[in-house]
Amino acid sequence: MIHVDERSALLVTDLVKSLCGVELGVTKGYLIESRLAPLLEQFSIQDYEALCSRARNVAEHALRAEIIDRITTHETLFFRDKSCFDALQHKILPELFDAKTAAASRHLRIWSAACSTGQEPYSIAMIISELLRSTSTLWNIEIVATDVSDPAVRAASLGMYKNHELARCSIPTLIERYTEPEGDGRKVRHEIRSMCRFQTLDLQRDFSLLGSFDLILCRNVLIYFDQTLRTDILRRIAARLNPTGRFLVGATENLLDSQTIFRREDHCGASVYRLAGS
Ligand SMILES: C[S@@+](CC[C@H](N)C(=O)[O-])C[C@H]1O[C@@H](n2cnc3c(N)ncnc32)[C@H](O)[C@@H]1O
Repeated sequence: MIHVDERSALLVTDLVKSLCGVELGVTKGYLIESRLAPLLEQFSIQDYEALCSRARNVAEHALRAEIIDRITTHETLFFRDKSCFDALQHKILPELFDAKTAAASRHLRIWSAACSTGQEPYSIAMIISELLRSTSTLWNIEIVATDVSDPAVRAASLGMYKNHELARCSIPTLIERYTEPEGDGRKVRHEIRSMCRFQTLDLQRDFSLLGSFDLILCRNVLIYFDQTLRTDILRRIAARLNPTGRFLVGATENLLDSQTIFRREDHCGASVYRLAGS
């Protein structure tokens, strides 16, 4: 494996930050060598310094996409952090449906802002299907699911998961109901996939064109950014949230440093945020 020296490590750190906002931190040497070394051989690049200059060439989209995909952590799970999905099922979504009904609207817009390989948006779609099972009212449910990694977004759109990936899921009955066997795994059923629209999106960039949402999830991704970027993203997310909207972060994250933007409520053991002024 090609060793990364201090100078090259700093160049790669800058490159990664500009590509996806991720701070490599004190373990940068290990991360660079373990995750990016295979790219040197794959793209016939001599060393990390050459990798950086080549990746900054506008024509090298494929190389940049590989760097982003390898350096980002895609760890995820169907119904990850069960308390969050309990809050969605028993509090947040019923309240949003009621508010929409009162406003004579049957259109609910949700954004999964770092969706990885799709388990998060599909889990929300499954919970919504459960809630709407007993009603004959037609709802227009739109779940926009985005991630900075092209391969993660492609995998998410396919909706195919290996059996071992599904084994750790905390609500197996919903996996059984809303996926069907295919090959050596299971595929998410069309009725669930049709609620979700996937696209590649870097949270560092302007996302105002996505429109406004009733519910936004930005879970387990802000931890990879520095304070300035994190606050900037939170402010822009707040601008995309409808006045009655709800916002969720990961179970181990909190928004104590953003109390002027969001206020917290606790439901079913999960922290649920609303706009501070609402
Ligand atoms: C640990 S996963 C979290 C997935 C899911 N939200 C969950 O909680 O299970 C973090 C995801 O954030 C994505 N990510 C990292 N930097 C990003 C950025 N700048 N913009 C959008 N997504 C990013 C990664 O590609 C990865 O798929």
